[in-house]
Amino acid sequence: FHVDWDIMTAEKAGFDHFMLKEIHEQPKAYRDTMGSRISPDGRSVVFNELHMTTDDVKAIRRIHIVACGTAYHAGLVGKAVIEKLARIPVETDVASEYRYRSPIITPDTLVIVVSQSGETADTLAALREAKRCGARVLAITNVVGSSVAREADDVIVTWAGPEIAVASTKAYTSQLIAFYLFALFLAQTLGTVPADEIAATLAALNKLPEQVEDILAAKDAIKAYAEQIAAHEDLFFIGRGLDYAVALEGSLKLKEISYIHSEAYAAGELKHGTLALIEEGVPVIALAIQTDLFEKTVSNIKEVKARGANVLGIGYAGDEELQKSVDRTFAIPKTLDLLAPALSVVPLQLLSYYASLARGNDVDKPRNLAKSVTVE
Ligand code: G6P
Repeated sequence: FHVDWDIMTAEKAGFDHFMLKEIHEQPKAYRDTMGSRISPDGRSVVFNELHMTTDDVKAIRRIHIVACGTAYHAGLVGKAVIEKLARIPVETDVASEYRYRSPIITPDTLVIVVSQSGETADTLAALREAKRCGARVLAITNVVGSSVAREADDVIVTWAGPEIAVASTKAYTSQLIAFYLFALFLAQTLGTVPADEIAATLAALNKLPEQVEDILAAKDAIKAYAEQIAAHEDLFFIGRGLDYAVALEGSLKLKEISYIHSEAYAAGELKHGTLALIEEGVPVIALAIQTDLFEKTVSNIKEVKARGANVLGIGYAGDEELQKSVDRTFAIPKTLDLLAPALSVVPLQLLSYYASLARGNDVDKPRNLAKSVTVE
C-alpha cells in the first residue's frame, strides 16, 4: 500500500495550487483584518494598536504611501480612499523611486509603507528615509515582527495569514481592507464624514466577504474566458478612477504568472496612443463599475469595439447598458463604489490563475520572480 503524499500537497488543503487556495481564503482574510477593529455596534473603527492621538491625526498635513509591486497598487486605492473620506492630500510612490526624487517629507507628513512581507529592501529604505526626515511612519504589513513592523511608529497588521504563491492575492485585498479602515478612522477623527455614513460604509465592508464567496462560486465562467485568451500575446485592461487602479493590479497579475503581455490603461487616455494597438480580435477587459464615470467608460469601450476589440466588461450585476456595449460580461455584486476594488479584483486574480494554468506555467513560482525582494 503506497500513498503519494507530501507536505506541500497537504498544505494546499485540496487546492491544486497555493494561489487558488489563497484566492479562496480571501473572505476569511477580510473578516480577520476587520476583526475587532469595528466597534460592536458597527458604527465606528477602533484601532487599539495605533498610538495616534486625535491631535496627532489633526496634525497630519500630507500622506505619502510607499510600496512595491502589488502593495503599490493597494496604495493607489488607499490614496483615493483617504483623499475622498479624510480630505488629506496623498501621494503614492513606488518605493524604488521615492527617495531618489527628493520627496518633501516634513514632520507633519505621515508616511505609510505597505509590504506583505515587511522585508522588501526598497520599502524598508523608504521607511528609514522618512524617519530620518522626522516623519511619522505607519506600516501596513502581513508579518508581525518583520523589519518594517519593527521600525515603524505604528503598525496595522493585515491578518491574511501566510501567503506562499509569488503572485499576491489575499495580501493585496487585506491591504485594501486595512486602507478602508484607516481612512474611516481618519475621517471619524477629523469629522470629515457624517457618523451615519461611516456606519453605512462599515456595514457594506462587512458584506464583502460573503460577496467574494458569490464571485468565487462563478469561477467557471472566468476559467472558460481565460482558456480563450490564453492563446493571445497581448491584452488590455481599461478603467477609470478606482477601476483603473484595479486594472493595473489585474494586468500585473496576468503578466506575472501567465506571461501574456498586458497593459492597463486609464480608459480616457487610450486615444492618446494605445488605441493604435487595438485591432480585430484583441482582448480588452473593461472595468465599468465606478458610477460617476460609467458613461465615460462606456464611450471608451465603444472606441475599442469600433476597432474590432473583443471586450469583457466587468460591472455590477444587472447592468444592461454594459451588457449591450460589450461581447460578454462578468458581474460583481453591488457594493459602494469606493469598496468595489475589493470585489472586482477577484475575477482578475482568477483570470490570471486560469490563464497561467492553460499555458502550462508554474503558477505558484513564476519565472524570474521572487516572493520577497530583499535586495535593492
Ligand atoms: C515581489 C513580489 C510581489 C510583491 C512585491 C512587494 O516583487 O513578487 O508580489 O507585491 O515583491 O512585496 P511586499 O512583501 O513588500 O509586499
